[in-house]
Amino acid sequence: MLKAAPHFAAQSGPSDAIVMNAWYVAAWSGELGTDVLARRIAGRAMVLRRTKQGVEIVEDRPPQAGAAETYPAVERDGIIWVFPGDPARAAGVTIPEHPWITQWWSAVGYERIAARASLLIDNLLDLSHESYLHARGIGTAEVAETPIEVERRDDVLHVNRRMYGVACPPAFQASTGLPGPIDRFQEIAFHPPGFYVLHARVAAAGDTGHGLLNKVVYGITPETARTTHLFYGIARELDGRGDVPEAARKSTQSRTVGEDKRALELLETVIASEPDAAPEVSIGIDRGGLLGRRMIAELVARETVTA
Ligand SMILES: [Fe+2]
Repeated sequence: MLKAAPHFAAQSGPSDAIVMNAWYVAAWSGELGTDVLARRIAGRAMVLRRTKQGVEIVEDRPPQAGAAETYPAVERDGIIWVFPGDPARAAGVTIPEHPWITQWWSAVGYERIAARASLLIDNLLDLSHESYLHARGIGTAEVAETPIEVERRDDVLHVNRRMYGVACPPAFQASTGLPGPIDRFQEIAFHPPGFYVLHARVAAAGDTGHGLLNKVVYGITPETARTTHLFYGIARELDGRGDVPEAARKSTQSRTVGEDKRALELLETVIASEPDAAPEVSIGIDRGGLLGRRMIAELVARETVTA
């Protein structure tokens, strides 16, 4: 008889189900000017435009239909949010807070990923991949070696990793001027199904002060079942420290996203070509991702029950 290792779990592959009754990032505020912006969100073709009152309307204009359908939309702190599901439920769903996008120095970007959203979420909840995929920029060996703490508090998933006296990766040396060793905290707050914030603190090793604080933000919005809009941004607390060095502006995050995009699209190709593949095997480091999947599955199940 086989004895199961406690930290291994076989499970089915990544889902391509879309939670409809959720607020998703539809655009960065700066993307929508006086013109309209067409974007497919959660499988629905939408057109975003601002009204004279500055309140944006999101419309679905099926070519065969007469009247356009409108969806609830909110612009807040640099983000335009849309609710693609039942409009009557929108008021009962909370939009996550993200004030530093407008209050701190920030840079934002967008990338379309030809992969299902759940693969991106797996990736972001397991930052140990930084050690391998992003070794040239933000990854060091210690990221993969340091255990994580996973905790669900209400509807938010927290995945924390605190590293003490570790090497300073190349991108951080450029942005902070710290040669290392450093204390480096990664504290993830994932708001299923589609908003993710990495609260990052970097300080010289042993410095118990405020440190340098960054918020790495990802809006993960299904375009279709197997393609995803990735809205990414970084916000940095300057706190009297002057401006952000030119070398650290946006380029690091856009390169990181590009490295993830290539890996995820390859993975999607493999998964899509092997629909009957063997169940996945997960290890301890996947605990964050597995709990994230479970929370999204709960949201999907809730819609099935209440539909
Ligand atoms: Fe990554």
